[in-house]
Amino acid sequence: MNMIPNPDPQVSLRALGAMLREQSVLAAIEVFAREVGNVFQMRLPGFRAVMLVGPEAARFVLVSGREDFRWRSEGDPVTALLRQGVLVQDGEAHDRLRRAMNPALHKRMLEAYIGGMVRGTDQVMRGWAEGQPVDMLVEMRRAALLILLETLFKVDFSPDMESLWKAILKTLDYISPGLWMFWRGIPRPQYQDALRQMDAYLYRIIAARRAQVGEASDLLGLLVSDDSMDDGLIRDQLLTMLIAGHDTSTALLSWALYLLGKHPETLARAQAEVDAVVGRDVPQMAHVNQLTYLDQVINETLRLYPPIHLGSRTAAVDLTFEGYSIPAGTRVMYSVYLTQRMPQYWPDAAQFKPERWEASQAQPQPYTYLPFGGGPRNCIGALYAQVEAKIVLASLLQRRELRLLPRRVYAHMGATLEPRPGVWMETRLRRV
Ligand code: HEM
Repeated sequence: MNMIPNPDPQVSLRALGAMLREQSVLAAIEVFAREVGNVFQMRLPGFRAVMLVGPEAARFVLVSGREDFRWRSEGDPVTALLRQGVLVQDGEAHDRLRRAMNPALHKRMLEAYIGGMVRGTDQVMRGWAEGQPVDMLVEMRRAALLILLETLFKVDFSPDMESLWKAILKTLDYISPGLWMFWRGIPRPQYQDALRQMDAYLYRIIAARRAQVGEASDLLGLLVSDDSMDDGLIRDQLLTMLIAGHDTSTALLSWALYLLGKHPETLARAQAEVDAVVGRDVPQMAHVNQLTYLDQVINETLRLYPPIHLGSRTAAVDLTFEGYSIPAGTRVMYSVYLTQRMPQYWPDAAQFKPERWEASQAQPQPYTYLPFGGGPRNCIGALYAQVEAKIVLASLLQRRELRLLPRRVYAHMGATLEPRPGVWMETRLRRV
């Protein structure tokens, strides 16, 4: 049995250099993988993890060895925040919550959500002045929040958006990689106000829904009509969906706009497709399947910049992977980002090439493309997110000319992989 390789000080120094140069921890992880291999240790004071790269690793964590891993990790801010949310539960408790929420995200519900997706996008676009720069990282967050709350909770978020904006960003900051990793368990009082504000809002919408009578098939309706759930458990699911369901879509949409802005020929082709398929109609389900080039753009964006770029678990028992021993209790991570850029599976891996997703081309090899995870704990909102991305982008391309302003953007490892410091674009109404 082999010990997991530990990068030597020279490699660590090069990784640190790359991190500082590129302003991104991802650059450091890339150096480790290139110089050490697809299995290595990440050691920082107070933080240790084993990093795995490649399809075999993903299959091991997500499918073949999944019973030997735990998601929930006590002392981790994600668990502290989401408490008993479906994302951080294991075993029967997880499966029960997942079953309870599945119907609200089922394929047959999506058609009913499309109106909300169009309205959320319209509302955000109405705030844009002709020819004035807007930051799409901010604008897409507004759209994603309005859409998520309207479709899944049947709540109009516009009156509360401004007062909760800072609290939402602060909550995301609370669960992002940071100094807490080195000093676990230390209280972080600077977050308490934001977390309290979020809770107060969620308990308010739960109480308002309980006061209403009648059946409802949206997510909040399903949860309040489930007698086995108290308000605390419902709060945990709402916060899970609010965070997992809007921050990821924000990242996907803002990266897609960045890449479209960087590649004007792709933008023109996507816009021509929207004109041909949607024309002047309001985007609807019938258009979704016909927007095939937009699909390719979305797939390629998720390949290059997967919003969830790392999967993280804890080994519940002593494990072996490809001859390496992983003791129980080890934090095990697999890199979606690096796996989706492995040159042996992805020719011209670093290039943005939506055409690689044309139906005539080969499908990706199993477990080389994992933007929504895999196995029984894959993303519950995968279909929702893909329809949402198409409707939002189609609505934008239908109405606006978009021009990316030349500013440096890097991939920031926050709660998701975000284009920082933002995606600044000038927009103009289209005269068609
Ligand atoms: C582009 C958008 C999205 C991406 C890239 C994404 C990605 C992912 C990934 C990779 C996982 C698996 C995590 C793991 O195995 O550790 C996951 C799980 C999850 N996602 Fe998403 N997601 C997106 C949108 C959404 C939406 C819209 C919702 C809700 C409306 C959602 C809710 C969840 C939940 C609740 C889980 C946990 C599932 C479980 O543990 O059973 N996600 N997502």
